[in-house]
Formats: sequence, structure tokens, C-alpha cells
Amino acid sequence: MVDEDEGVSGSTEVSIGELIEQRLSRRGVLFGLAGTAAATALGGGVAQAQKSGPSSFTFTEVPHVNDPTHHVPDDYEVQILIRWGDPVLPGAAAYDPTKQSGAVQALQFGYNNDFLGLHPLPLPGPGGGSTTGDRFLMVVNHEYTNSNLMLAGIGEGREARLRADQPQAEIEMAAHGGAVIEIAREGRRWKVVDGSRYARRIDATTPMRIAGPAAGDARMKTSADPTGTKVLGMFNNCAGGETPWGTWLTCEENFYFYFAGDGARHPDQVLAKRYGLGRTVSYAWGKYFDRFNFDKEPNEPNRFGWIVEIDPYDPQGTPVKRTALGRFAHEGCHHAVAKDGRVVCYMGDDSRMEYVYKFVTAKPWNPDDRAANRDLLDEGTLYVARFDDGGKVVWLPLLHGQAPLTAENGFASQADVVINARRAGDLLKATPMDRPEDIEPNRVNGRVYVALSNNSSRKPEQVDAANPRAKNDHGHIVEITPKDGDHAATEGTWEILIAGGQPGKHEGANYHPATSADGWLTCPDNVAFDSKGRLWIATDSAEQAGIADGLYACDVTGEGRALTRQFFAAPKGAEVCGPIFTPDDRTLFLAIQHPGEGKGSTFETPSTRWPDFKDGAPPRPAVIVITKKDGGPIGS
Ligand code: FEO
Ligand code: CA
Ligand code: CA
Repeated sequence: MVDEDEGVSGSTEVSIGELIEQRLSRRGVLFGLAGTAAATALGGGVAQAQKSGPSSFTFTEVPHVNDPTHHVPDDYEVQILIRWGDPVLPGAAAYDPTKQSGAVQALQFGYNNDFLGLHPLPLPGPGGGSTTGDRFLMVVNHEYTNSNLMLAGIGEGREARLRADQPQAEIEMAAHGGAVIEIAREGRRWKVVDGSRYARRIDATTPMRIAGPAAGDARMKTSADPTGTKVLGMFNNCAGGETPWGTWLTCEENFYFYFAGDGARHPDQVLAKRYGLGRTVSYAWGKYFDRFNFDKEPNEPNRFGWIVEIDPYDPQGTPVKRTALGRFAHEGCHHAVAKDGRVVCYMGDDSRMEYVYKFVTAKPWNPDDRAANRDLLDEGTLYVARFDDGGKVVWLPLLHGQAPLTAENGFASQADVVINARRAGDLLKATPMDRPEDIEPNRVNGRVYVALSNNSSRKPEQVDAANPRAKNDHGHIVEITPKDGDHAATEGTWEILIAGGQPGKHEGANYHPATSADGWLTCPDNVAFDSKGRLWIATDSAEQAGIADGLYACDVTGEGRALTRQFFAAPKGAEVCGPIFTPDDRTLFLAIQHPGEGKGSTFETPSTRWPDFKDGAPPRPAVIVITKKDGGPIGS
């Protein structure tokens, strides 16, 4: 996304003493490469182009390109599963770009598909469930709209959204949120099941419940909801996750773009400043709906920026905002199960100089009684991470009443802590990171992978071992090893797995030295693992380095550790989102988001018409299916 992630951190003031200490200890900066490979890479060695070598992957690499279509290795195939505007609900109109309205869009697949989750059918449980892996509920986030590519005659860029009339605003609101679709495999192909009783669209107007410590708090009350427990809709849902009991966790990221108003006049200046209210307004919704104007409804923004739990198996169920997990620009929410059965959710706040978090439930989850887990996410401990220069990570609890999160510092309750989680993190001296995106535990090796996208605003005096580059244009990936292999542990160790950019060209770029000229990447965003625990990395914003966004495969153990290889290249303007494998590794789904985004690209003159390539038709975000032509596992 081109206009996301403005940094508003209040966390970057460091004393001179701290600076000197950091600089000294930085000399021992850790890189997660083994032996001589690390030495070569750190010495600035240029990666040698080679197609074979120590990698466990056998596919032929896709070259770095930047053109109107997608690319996979020759022996792989791409199928389009569903596109923006395709029917989802009964009675939905077929896609017709000249006949969009809010009501039409509300029944169709939304825009800018991001997170993808797979929930097996039938529902797994003590009584059995799907074992074939041939039928799933796919859950999909619809993050934002490129309105200028959706609609004719409205011009370019963000301004096209700010000039919206009410019908355009209604289309945008209905194109946000998420979708549930039922999908089934026939041979190597997948289809969307028509008329599924599970099909669902969720958008910026869907009624939701607010639960957890902030529910009912004074700062959650509005004129439409004096209880502070009911809210309409979700938006800017970026990445996500799922719970062990099969619900979907969808993450509200850059919610502040949707609220108009004068930030300097907001009644709560501490909160307004820390979340950048009014700094970047990208939509005109506030002109037509008072709740999107915080001059009129100052508390409405407090009801966004949460993790939303949705049960895809219950199409009538009310989505729930789980406030115990904190309020910030939530990127994703992947879980692991601690040794004692408690559930641990890893989360990133994707803005410059923001933090990495985890939430640990108070109680273990119950695998034998799905209903018993219904409100498990309402009780537990939210932690924020401090990455020490010596390679240790410490998880600091964000608990009201425990210094410094006390009334004297403005935290009168746990509601105050979760609503202003960013400031709570500041006071605990968490480590400001280079835009924490997806954070995902690897079920094979028990480690946790943190994608850090980039951070153009980090100054030289602000670098630390975990964020070792000033003006970090290319991002990096941090690997965390929880202490004693327990995700509930409040300590662990960390190291950098790879540092993005082109070796030999971009300072600090760092991979296994056998990484080829096509294997380097920039701006890691979403990550996934295949069943062997190998890491797949999707990127967002690679065009700034002259290449398309892509998907890269990377071993995390053995001789090929930190050797990235390009598997997929996206069409022009698109980022790659939502990578997810079927349990047999024979299908890879990707969400191709915002094809054709970029300067000068409009409905009339888009930079690509992917995936339909139909004259006069705009590009359409779409979910794609990648299989190997011989039916074998992806990547092999
Ligand atoms: Fe919406 Fe952080 O990517
Ligand atoms: Ca993302
Ligand atoms: Ca992104």
C-alpha cells in the first residue's frame, strides 16, 4: 500500500547515555547466518548468481521483472479463484464496472484481498472432521480500496477517494471488510461453491460486539452506542490469523485514515497524538456519516484498531472485537499453543517505530468443547517486546496497576491500557521497530518470524541491533526463539535471518551468499510456512527497488538457511498477500492486492488490466491458486 504506515511514535526519545551504550553494543550485532557465510555476507560480499546449491527447493527461479502479468516457474500453473466484484451472496449481480453501487458491492467479493485463511469442512472436532483437505471455508480480508481503479472518471490516487460523492463512499464501505467463501478441490483445480450456506460478506457497516477490558468504557461510548459495546463494521483489515478452535482473527490496521476531523482539537490530546488522528485522512466517509468525523463523534476512532474474531462456521454470528489484545495498527495475529495449553497470539503494530506484541490467554484452550473457548480471548496478558542488543528478547506485561501503568501516568484501568497500548509500550521502553508486519510461529522448529517491512524515518542515532539500518528501505526478518521452547515464556533470544535489498547495491543487504541475482527481496510483509516448516515471504513495495513484488522461498534450517529464491512475481502495481498452503502442500493460495496501483494509473489508463486483460476493464484484485503441473508439492 503506497500511503500506509505513517509513523507517529512517541517512543523514540533516547538519552545520550543510552545512545552511546547502544552504539557500543551494536558492534556485536547479530546476524543469523552460519559461520563463513555470515562473515562473507557481513563483509559486503556480493551474492553469486547460481541456480542450484544448498537450497532444499528445486523449482526454477522466476527472474526479477516488473510487468503487467504474474510469473511462476514453468512447471507451475496459476488459476484465478475469485476476483473483486464476483458474486458471493445469493442474488449478487455479475460484475459490471458501470453498474456498481453500495448495495451491489455488498453482495460481491470485496476489494484488495489481503489475509487468507483456510478452515476445513466439515468442522474438525472430537467427532472427526475433514481429513481430505479438499473442502474449506476460505476467509479473506478486504483491506482498502483503490477507488480510482474501481470507478470510471474519478482521476488518480488518494485524492480520488477524498473527492468521493456519497454513492462512491458507499461502494468503498461495502468493498472493505472481509468475506467467507466455500471452496472445493476437483483434481488440481479449485472452485468457489455456489450457494454455500456459509457464504458471507462483512463490511464497514456490519454490526459487531465489543468485548474485553475496553467494552463499556466511557471512551468507547458514542451517541449511537451509549453502552460502548456495539459498533458498526471493520475496515483496513490487513493480515490475520486463526484460533485453535477454528475462528478467524482479522486485524484492523490503518483505521485512522478513515476519520476526518481536527486532531489538534480532539478532547483527548494524548490519545489523538499517539494515534495520529487527523494526520492522514484518505477517505471522504466523514462528509456523509457523522461517525467518521471525530469533531462530531470523538470516541468513534477508539472503536477501531482491534483484533476482530469471527466464526466462519456460524454465518449469522456476530463478529467480536477482542479488546484485551490491544489497540494499534494491527497487521496480523498468528497463534501458537504454550506448553500448558494457553494460546499465544503474536501481533505487530505496522507503523514506523512501533512495537511487537503478544497476548497470552489466562486459561488453556479446550480441544474437547469448542463453545468453552468462545470468550477465551477476553482474559489474559498483553505483552510488548524489548529486543536487547545482546540478542535477548524480553516480553513486558501491559498490566494496569503495575508501574508505570498507573493512574498517575494516565492509566486508571486496563481499558486505558488497551485503548492506548502504544503509550503503554512507550512507558515500558519497548523497542521501536521497522514496521512490524506479519509475525508467525513456525510449527516445525518452534521459532517465531517477524517481518519488518521498512522504515524510511529511522535516523542514524536511532539504530539498534534489532533494527540495524538507518533509513531502512528494504526491511528484514527477525527470528525469535522462545525460552525453553515455550511461547508463554517472557524471555527468549533473537537474531536477524535476512536483511532485504540487493546485495552489493543496498547497504546491509544480507542473505546466504549463494542467493542468486533473482533471489534477493525487499520489503517483507506476509510470511507463511509449508508443512516442512520452510519459510515463504511475500513482499509489498518492491517497485521502489525496480522489481515487482513477489513470493520468495527460504530454508530456515540446514545448509540453505537464509537462502531466498523467487517463486512468484506479481503483476505491476500489486503486492502479494495471504500466502497459505493446503495441508498437503499441493496448492498454494495467494491474494494479489492492488494490481495497477501507482502514479498515473487510473480506471481509464491502468498500468495493467490483470487478470482479465479485457479492453476497457480495470485491473481486479484476485485470489489465485498455484499448483504444480505434475500435482506434486509446491516448491518440492
Ligand atoms: Fe497492510 Fe502492513 O500491510
Ligand atoms: Ca500487510
Ligand atoms: Ca502491506
